[in-house]
Amino acid sequence: MKPLMINPPLLNSANPWCTTLEELQELYNCPFTGAVTTRTSLLNGFPHDPNIHQYTFFNPTTHNASPDNANASADQTGSLNTLGYSPILLGEYLKFIKTISDRTREARSFASSTSSPNLPSSPTIKPFIISVTGSIDEVLQCYRLITAHQQNVLMPLAMEINLSCPNIPNTPPLAYHTDRLAEYLIALKAEIATQLLSQPPSQQQELAAAQVLIGIKTPPYTHADQYHNLINALLASAVASPSTVSTPVSFITATNTLGSALLLSPRLEAPSSPTLTTTTSSSTSGAVLPREVLHSTLNSATGTGIGGMAGAPLHPLALGNVYTIKGELFRHTELEAIQIIGVGGVEDAEGFRRMRAVGAAAVGVGTALGRKGIRVFEEIAEALGKGRRGSEVWRA
Ligand SMILES: Cc1cc2nc3c(=O)[nH]c(=O)nc-3n(C[C@H](O)[C@H](O)[C@H](O)COP(=O)(O)O)c2cc1C
Repeated sequence: MKPLMINPPLLNSANPWCTTLEELQELYNCPFTGAVTTRTSLLNGFPHDPNIHQYTFFNPTTHNASPDNANASADQTGSLNTLGYSPILLGEYLKFIKTISDRTREARSFASSTSSPNLPSSPTIKPFIISVTGSIDEVLQCYRLITAHQQNVLMPLAMEINLSCPNIPNTPPLAYHTDRLAEYLIALKAEIATQLLSQPPSQQQELAAAQVLIGIKTPPYTHADQYHNLINALLASAVASPSTVSTPVSFITATNTLGSALLLSPRLEAPSSPTLTTTTSSSTSGAVLPREVLHSTLNSATGTGIGGMAGAPLHPLALGNVYTIKGELFRHTELEAIQIIGVGGVEDAEGFRRMRAVGAAAVGVGTALGRKGIRVFEEIAEALGKGRRGSEVWRA
């Protein structure tokens, strides 16, 4: 199986800033991304409700929070979210990618039909990583849809399975559990084998080379057993029948947000209102003043405001995850070719370098894309000496 080529090795992770066609087109056009990830979608969409599915940027020291990037200050480098998945169906994302593919095809044929030096060079082709989730059957259906769609578009497609969102009530991230994760991987391996065997032997090699690659998005692991669960699931998929196909996983995107995080914000309230924590309640004149009460900054489906944390506070844990997973993969010949997309708290060239130093083949950006917008990729490239002003063409 050929590896996923992400050149330059910088991309967006799945998040709200890659939800619409316009956002995906802008990410695709950006010369400093080597691939584009879509926000996680479901076959039948997700019932997004802005009253309970929310995000905010926060200062990791003061916990001051801003709900949107327009008002976020430079020190609000953390994020907390209680979002589920995209309200847009997977089928719509496939149409978005077809639109971007058609536009790219047109632009390329226009560029090749003219030799004017003033025109921008022919647009490059870069992979789309389509983030999906659901039950095993649904994920298999997603894979079939994406595989069928590969013939319609120019760019290589990959599927990233998100089994690590911490915000879905009664559905703890499955990627923490060997058996549950292994069930998905073994089913996907069987699907790949079925697709290959449905072709005449003469075409099987060609199909294997053009196969839609599969990745898994992992949650942040915090102790050895959790890493072993991941590796055991990968090994179980590698040895499962048929032996002609290896593990179906080509890449691991580490990490998703860290669940169980809570931000509190002060709110002024009348003295009789229920409190979480009261900080002031009276004046020197004896008049009863509104009190400052700490409430959860976000709402959530569970009603607690507890969600997934990312951005700068996640960075050391994400580095530790990439380092550890890479080391574990290297201990098994059947897993050593699996690539890692390092994600978590990368907001500048130093973060990018750290991720590469611990073994990331490519580096994903989430919170900092939300905070800074698309310019974050150019900033990173410039600081690495590989931006528009840099002398080198940026390739991995
Ligand atoms: C607001 C928000 C929404 C996210 N939504 C998704 C999602 O739909 N699917 C997914 O796989 N990861 C999602 N993530 C996780 C990010 O892709 C990324 O793994 C994580 O935030 C760590 O990277 P960062 O520190 O650069 O944000 C989301 C993150 C944020 C901040």
